[in-house]
Amino acid sequence: MNTELIERIKELKEERNAIIMAHYYQIDEVQAVADYTGDSLGLSRKAAETDAEVIVFCGVDFMAESAAILSPDKTVLLPEIDAGCPMADMVSVDALRQKKAEYPNATVVCYVNSSAAVKAESDICCTSSNAVDIVNSIDNDQILFVPDQNLGNYVSQQTDKEIILWEGFCITHHRVKSNSIEKVRELHSDAEVLVHPECRQKVVELADFVGSTAQILKYAHESKAEKLIVGTEMGILYQLQEDNPNKEFYILNQGLICQNMKKTSLSNVLKALEDNKYQITVEEEVRVGAKRSLDKMLELSK
Ligand code: 13P
Ligand code: SF4
Repeated sequence: MNTELIERIKELKEERNAIIMAHYYQIDEVQAVADYTGDSLGLSRKAAETDAEVIVFCGVDFMAESAAILSPDKTVLLPEIDAGCPMADMVSVDALRQKKAEYPNATVVCYVNSSAAVKAESDICCTSSNAVDIVNSIDNDQILFVPDQNLGNYVSQQTDKEIILWEGFCITHHRVKSNSIEKVRELHSDAEVLVHPECRQKVVELADFVGSTAQILKYAHESKAEKLIVGTEMGILYQLQEDNPNKEFYILNQGLICQNMKKTSLSNVLKALEDNKYQITVEEEVRVGAKRSLDKMLELSK
């Protein structure tokens, strides 16, 4: 059944001059059928430079929205319209405007896990790959960082700047508690622990390595350790195992599943290509503002 689906997806992809892009948290079958898999920074870069006419974005809505912002002439499809990011919904334009009024001199850095309208209201975007470099590149000592308090907190440990935090968080990563690291260290004293900066500060402090999904993949590949424990969404295990068939990987915590990332299946990737569903567009005035913030980030992380 899957073979038929995959064949049909490949045919339609050719016919429509489409590219399938997938985040590392997608289910294994979707990552396997993708032309490009990546972290949020890699996916934004690819969306900005691809020659394909159609981008099928297997991820969550803000990612497809970023592709539509960067490539307005392309058809951007999100196969599962309900795939959202609860953290992105934790900051609204109105709330951000109020906070900006409290800190009129702050530069607003917004994590890409945010709506187009919030990006348009910000000065520059960042991802978890480049957040520290972006903040350090800013010629201002006061930064308002939205919406992830954990990533913001991680950045504040690596910079002398004053970071004003927002109270958002990723419902998946925020669930991990520091005692999970203590427990796995007892069970696997020879393993390295790698975590995402969306985890709480106490978890980050106890880890051997902290990085975005792409940075975790790179570190795991280069590490001499044969056993590695990852504190990020479990979809990353697919690429970790592909890249390192002789290493052992464990997930730090059983709850590390993002339900929104798991909504996309091979059948709705096919439907997306067949029925042009669901097309993501961004109102032009917002798009131009959001593009300015994304372009500044991409320029700084070449
Ligand atoms: P990265 O892939 O950029 O590390 O992002 C993690 C994430 O939570 C995406 O929603
Ligand atoms: Fe949002 Fe967290 Fe899911 Fe990423 S893993 S899409 S930040 S809820």
